[in-house]
Amino acid sequence: MIQKWDPSSYAKDAAFVSMYGEELITLLAPIAGDKVMDLGCGDGFLAEKIAEMGCDVTGVDASEAQVDAAEKRGIKAVVGNGESLGFLGEFDSVLSNAALHWMRRPEEVIANVWQNLKPGGVFVGEMGAKGNVSAVVETLSALLERRGHNSELYNPWYFPTEQEYSELLVAQGFNINTISTFSRPTKIKSDLLSWLRIFAQSFVAPIEEERDSFYREAETALRPYLYSEKNGWIVDYVRLRFNVYRPSR
Ligand code: BEZ
Repeated sequence: MIQKWDPSSYAKDAAFVSMYGEELITLLAPIAGDKVMDLGCGDGFLAEKIAEMGCDVTGVDASEAQVDAAEKRGIKAVVGNGESLGFLGEFDSVLSNAALHWMRRPEEVIANVWQNLKPGGVFVGEMGAKGNVSAVVETLSALLERRGHNSELYNPWYFPTEQEYSELLVAQGFNINTISTFSRPTKIKSDLLSWLRIFAQSFVAPIEEERDSFYREAETALRPYLYSEKNGWIVDYVRLRFNVYRPSR
């Protein structure tokens, strides 16, 4: 998958991702002194909030640039991938906001989280659920197919149903406290073009030379569905949110 994160454009046009993530901290309810992993920590916005609550936080992100940005906030962070995490320590909890859908091997991610949790430890996450950003996915896929490419190969996202993800969590041994799916139409601050440039890089991998015209064509095609004079651009996000725990021995 080709996806590069630029902390400055992320902070400018995707700050809403972390803002929404603050609700996850409430769900996690960390206690001062807890050892917490933020899996897919991005620029460390949420990790910093958790550290301010007196927790010992480790951020993990696949992007070196984002890890650097998190470190600039004073957060301990390491470059790592949830699918091949290895053992980073015995954590009281793992939190993950808007990152798990970038990891297309969920069984491995879930096994890695399990391995990094103490017995009794909690895993709280939010990710795109089935149907997430579906207008965008359908449009990008159709435009790519029209150019003769198999869009499945370039779609970087995994959006499971609640049932599918519950089964994977339970198969690993997790007990489910809560799991739910909900629509969250999401207003984006600037235009869809900026959103596509940040998040949909993988789709243009086979057509690099026409990247900008491809994004513009997608934006034009999506305008009737996602844009209004009154509200601007609103993207059709659907979330899967869960709170599960590794049973005590
Ligand atoms: C999400 O947070 O659901 C998401 C954001 C960008 C691209 C795909 C999914």
